[in-house]
Amino acid sequence: MPDNDDLIDVLLTQHAQIEEQFVLVAGSTSDARRDAFDDLVRLLAAHETAEEEVVHPLSRGLAAAGGDAMVEDRLLEERQAKEMLTALVDGGVDAEGFDAGLLVLRDAVLVHARHEERYEFPHLRASVPADRLRTLAGVLRAAEAAAPTRPHAGTETAKANLLAGPPLAVIDRVRDAVRRASD
Ligand SMILES: [Fe+2]
Ligand SMILES: [Fe+2]
Repeated sequence: MPDNDDLIDVLLTQHAQIEEQFVLVAGSTSDARRDAFDDLVRLLAAHETAEEEVVHPLSRGLAAAGGDAMVEDRLLEERQAKEMLTALVDGGVDAEGFDAGLLVLRDAVLVHARHEERYEFPHLRASVPADRLRTLAGVLRAAEAAAPTRPHAGTETAKANLLAGPPLAVIDRVRDAVRRASD
């Protein structure tokens, strides 16, 4: 990713990655599906946690973006998606109803992302100074680093330790990383 990307570039890239990952989960079976779903959980957790910590607080003060009311709508969508995600994680990929639940979650997550892209991100780019948006891209990358997805063949194995443990545990790790990077 180029170094001059700003916060909005990173967020849009993550939206596209999340959409692709839903396709990977839906199209795989057994162990591959389990791995793909774990990665989806990490991508979503890193993305939505960083938005809660960094992006939505930035929007609160922007009257043009609808301020607090718009942010509350986005946070509600994120809470609902997190509940669906938690239910899928608890049941596991082999549970009856996983496919149906995955589709419902995908639709909710994609509609939520379109709402952010339409009602939130353009206002941030119009109102927040460009150098600040570039600095905040680094905070989002710190969030990604705290929730790495499975290394592809040939990449370093140091990330493997971070893959241990329940996938939703990344939420706390991402929050800590975002707060450290924001100081
Ligand atoms: Fe979001
Ligand atoms: Fe988002």
